[in-house]
Amino acid sequence: MESAMFAGCWLLAASLVLATLASPHRLGAAAGEGSETKWHVVSVNSLLPSTVCTPTKAAPSSSALTVVHGHGPCSPQESRRGAPSHTEILGRDQDRVDAIRRKVAAVTTAASSSKPKGVPLQVGWGKYLDTTNYFTSLRLGTPATDLLVELDTGSDQSWIQCKPCPDCYEQHEALFDPSKSSTYSDITCSSRECQELGSSHKHNCSSDKKCPYEITYADDSYTVGNLARDTLTLSPTDAVPGFVFGCGHNNAGSFGEIDGLLGLGRGKASLSSQVAARYGAGFSYCLPSSPSATGYLSFSGAAAAAPTNAQFTEMVAGQHPSFYYLNLTGITVAGRAIKVPPSVFATAAGTIIDSGTAFSCLPPSAYAALRSSVRSAMGRYKRAPSSTIFDTCYDLTGHETVRIPSVALVFADGATVHLHPSGVLYTWSNVSQTCLAFLPNPDDTSLGVLGNTQQRTLAVIYDVDNQKVGFGANGCA
Ligand SMILES: *[C@@H]1O[C@H](CO)[C@@H](O)[C@H](O)[C@H]1NC(C)=O
Ligand SMILES: *[C@@H]1O[C@H](CO)[C@@H](O)[C@H](O)[C@H]1NC(C)=O
Ligand SMILES: *[C@@H]1O[C@H](CO)[C@@H](O)[C@H](O)[C@H]1NC(C)=O
Repeated sequence: MESAMFAGCWLLAASLVLATLASPHRLGAAAGEGSETKWHVVSVNSLLPSTVCTPTKAAPSSSALTVVHGHGPCSPQESRRGAPSHTEILGRDQDRVDAIRRKVAAVTTAASSSKPKGVPLQVGWGKYLDTTNYFTSLRLGTPATDLLVELDTGSDQSWIQCKPCPDCYEQHEALFDPSKSSTYSDITCSSRECQELGSSHKHNCSSDKKCPYEITYADDSYTVGNLARDTLTLSPTDAVPGFVFGCGHNNAGSFGEIDGLLGLGRGKASLSSQVAARYGAGFSYCLPSSPSATGYLSFSGAAAAAPTNAQFTEMVAGQHPSFYYLNLTGITVAGRAIKVPPSVFATAAGTIIDSGTAFSCLPPSAYAALRSSVRSAMGRYKRAPSSTIFDTCYDLTGHETVRIPSVALVFADGATVHLHPSGVLYTWSNVSQTCLAFLPNPDDTSLGVLGNTQQRTLAVIYDVDNQKVGFGANGCA
């Protein structure tokens, strides 16, 4: 698959700049000027994250977990590690999108040729793990051990580093010790979970032995161990007994200091599938507007707890069983549709929603149309030089407020999701360079990704039972 050869969604960004230097059609004053729903007026200072963590209390249920950005004042990692640079964040985001494409390519290759040689089926990613993602703390075992894990809607199997750990990387919390948990048990090769949840070494698995697992990520990071079961505590009154996860005894790569990964994908092994009998299949989360605020991850009654303003759209079929595909067909800017036919989105290999990709990747012609509309709407502001991958940047120095056009995603079934201003413009260190936070794909057939920047502050409801994803405004700060 050709798209797998591109390293990220943005390689063509530089050449597209040349194609549309001038803003062709400036939106007139009639285009919704002054309308509350078509424009946001925000304080320029608010575009930069604060150095103080302000937790929000917007969780829809008492069993919700708190979600924080991996870096910044709300991250428990921050005391020990410096924040990654802007370039690192962008580089790792590129790695992730590249890895997602390879993961899809591996599945489609496997479907077309019976046994692909040298293509591991569990291709994933690694480098990104420490950078652009959102973390939550879990409590595992009895008595419970606190673990800092990364949320990942792009993979199914959860894993943590486990003792004994002959070959593990240094992590944030103390290592999980199975021998100290009274509720821990190994999953054996003969058990149903081992058959279903895919041991990659079935040939080496005899009935009474521990069920092995191995996940190799795109950058050669890996985790190897055995599948196990233990109690996952979500709140003082809410626990998931028998949660199945990978107990990793041999792990290496660029995982930073996370203690493991929480798989929230669409497949059987994911936590959301595992809690289906208890809560209904699905979950909801809210990713905060900046690293200085907090969000939530909730399992109980994800769909029932949806805000009344939520817009639901269908989960559609796609090439990879772990990903959540949505049928994106258009975008509006300040209330007007961008000038691109819905067929442009249809020719892509689908669009997935992903918790771990920072910036949404659009078909290049859709990106060009979005950019053109945003440039027209932002015409009153001084342009700033392009920044590595972002080609539409503004210098907001000296402005107290900025008028940002409202950007909404439009889905095939009519759902219209208005993005928070923090999902439209992105500033990392200085408002003198504030950029449009979307990226173009390398070509119109590549997989589109709805990234986590665009999901900020939205209550995102994965109603797997009803095969719908909902978006509610003001889910968190
Ligand atoms: C298979 O089992 C043997 C004996 O237990 C062990 O030495 C070997 O490392 C195992 N191979 C894999 C790939 O797990
Ligand atoms: C997306 O919606 C369009 C229009 O309703 C439909 O023709 C198309 O088949 C849908 N795509 C998917 C992947 O379901
Ligand atoms: C932001 O950038 C401008 C222009 O590049 C510079 O003059 C100013 O000192 C910077 N501000 C901060 C807080 O770094």
